[in-house]
Amino acid sequence: MEIRLQKYLADCGVASRRKCEEYILEGRVKVNGQVVTTLGTKVDADTDKIEYNNVLIKDNKNAFTYILLNKPIGYVTTVEDQFNRDTVLDLVKTSKRLVPVGRLDMYTSGALILTDDGDFVYKVTHPKHEINKTYIVTVKGTVEKEEIEQLKNGVQIDEYTTKPAKVKIININEEKNQTRVVITIHEGRNRQVRKMCEAIGKTVIALHRSKIGEIDVKDIPLGKWRYLTEDEVKHITNSKL
Ligand code: URA
Repeated sequence: MEIRLQKYLADCGVASRRKCEEYILEGRVKVNGQVVTTLGTKVDADTDKIEYNNVLIKDNKNAFTYILLNKPIGYVTTVEDQFNRDTVLDLVKTSKRLVPVGRLDMYTSGALILTDDGDFVYKVTHPKHEINKTYIVTVKGTVEKEEIEQLKNGVQIDEYTTKPAKVKIININEEKNQTRVVITIHEGRNRQVRKMCEAIGKTVIALHRSKIGEIDVKDIPLGKWRYLTEDEVKHITNSKL
């Protein structure tokens, strides 16, 4: 069956379709040994030999898909929502049956991985394995040094004391009376960062997950996504506490 070259490359997980179009225009893609720079060129995945950066692209229809979404606020992290609210799956249109890896609250934005690899989901969300996650949280008012130390050392939320965290003030906006703090934790309790802030008496104005491990969403516009590279998938599955 013939399909457009950029769609074939994207389906094989090379990059998003838009990025694959750039690669084609840059002359990085060959079909049967010839560089092709015309967007929309049709290829037959069964018979054509397609290379990207001189590496043969395999039609990995059976391989797993890993997507990094920069989730905007207002979307729920479920596959289907009983109240018919917008879900993160509405932002990621693929033919694959993806599920979110862990969750972000409806009013939290930022890095969220989606995949169809059940083992990956199990491994990454298992409490023993929890990878570092970095959040940028904007709170009302100022945050004292002692409060930062409390967050770092662990605070009581529900029946539980949080594990040591990395915490740093990155911006104080006196005019707006707001402080922005970056917090890195490796646990994933329900609404953990919000509860940690509540525990030191702070009101959260905005919460954004900027990184999962070392994988950052700063280059992805809100509501957009890209495929994870193989190295990034390995970085996440190989991370240990
Ligand atoms: N902590 C929270 O409070 N909310 C999230 O969505 C993620 C972490």
